[in-house]
Amino acid sequence: MEQNTIVGVIGAGTMGSGIAQVAAQAGHTCYLYDANSATLERALTGLRGTIDKLVAKGKITAEEGKAITDRLRPATNLKDLAPCGLVIEAIIEDLAVKKKVFTDLEAFVAEDAVLATNTSSLSVTAIAAACSRPERVIGLHFFNPAPLLPLVEVVPGLATEATLASRLMALMQAWGKTPVVCKDTPGFIVNRVARPFYGEAIRIFEEGIADMPTIDAAMKSAGFKMGPFELMDLIGNDINFTVTRTVWEAFFYDPRYKPSFTQQRQVESGRLGRKSGRGYYSYADGAMPAFPAVDGAVSTPIVERILAMLINEAADALFWQVASAQDIDLAMTKGVNYPKGLLAWADEQGAAHWLGVLQRLQATYGEDRYRPSPLLLKASTDRSSLR
Ligand code: NAI
Repeated sequence: MEQNTIVGVIGAGTMGSGIAQVAAQAGHTCYLYDANSATLERALTGLRGTIDKLVAKGKITAEEGKAITDRLRPATNLKDLAPCGLVIEAIIEDLAVKKKVFTDLEAFVAEDAVLATNTSSLSVTAIAAACSRPERVIGLHFFNPAPLLPLVEVVPGLATEATLASRLMALMQAWGKTPVVCKDTPGFIVNRVARPFYGEAIRIFEEGIADMPTIDAAMKSAGFKMGPFELMDLIGNDINFTVTRTVWEAFFYDPRYKPSFTQQRQVESGRLGRKSGRGYYSYADGAMPAFPAVDGAVSTPIVERILAMLINEAADALFWQVASAQDIDLAMTKGVNYPKGLLAWADEQGAAHWLGVLQRLQATYGEDRYRPSPLLLKASTDRSSLR
């Protein structure tokens, strides 16, 4: 795909406006469309403001800023996307609505236009099935905020044409992104592998082993930029709960992904996190959470339990060939800022160490939640690397 390919973005919300900025900064003329004209106007005004700030900070020249702004154009109708060679959809997470947009779009774009979806949790294959040419449909999963987070998961569906993933990998690299390829499976890489970071932390809290600030402090002491509760409050507890529930349902209710009542009650009470002024912590009047100092005696059991679950999840994603070992580690460091790739981390102590942690949890609780991945078992027996 060339730099003169015209890009269309459908949905001018959080993700769509970020993706449009990335495409325009990479040199593409970019049409942005939203069903809500006020949202579209707001997004374009916001984007102009963002570009102005980049100029003011000296990150780009005034000429570059003007060229980027000129390349960002409103589309008032899906028909306006007719000249686009690549259209990226970032509308609400609803399969029926997405399918309708894709079928409508196919009536206007050229035969060889590529249609991408930014879905987090729906099946790319299911969205593509609505199209008359499903071979040109692919997942292009950006992370929030799209202009800042480098990771893009490139997700071919069952019917996607064989060379399309590598063409989009090259395009994402040209956009300055770090693309990884993954199978069309629930949660792709990041939203699957990261589940225990939240779920196991909540479980430790629910069992009364430690309070939230202590759990957060323990994980921060292991190198994570934010603790699980602090991060859930930033993401939004409603969004995080929806992802958890969707992944659990999509895995046919595998107990490993089971959501928690603690998170459900947070959502029900409207304690959604920073955006509502209250989540697991209070943010009233600009307050921010305070964390205790933790020593190894307190932090190690917490870190080991959560990390063992994360490593097991990464190993299982590799076992099921969701992505390569390299891409699984890249995804977690570039998409959610983990201090190290989980498979690389596992190798530091060796698979047998992490298997031991899981087997102790399984013996204590007798739950399938703690079942080790076949790959972790094998690497432990062979004393081999997980990578
Ligand atoms: P958002 O709610 O901020 O924006 C969605 C926009 O789509 C709204 O402006 C809405 O007016 C528009 N829209 C709804 N139906 C439409 C239609 N039929 N035609 C045209 N426009 C329509 O949502 P957000 O957060 O930007 O999410 C968009 C997509 O990106 C979803 O699929 C979501 O799962 C995915 N995603 C979200 C991430 C996040 O952190 N917010 C991260 C990665 C992916």
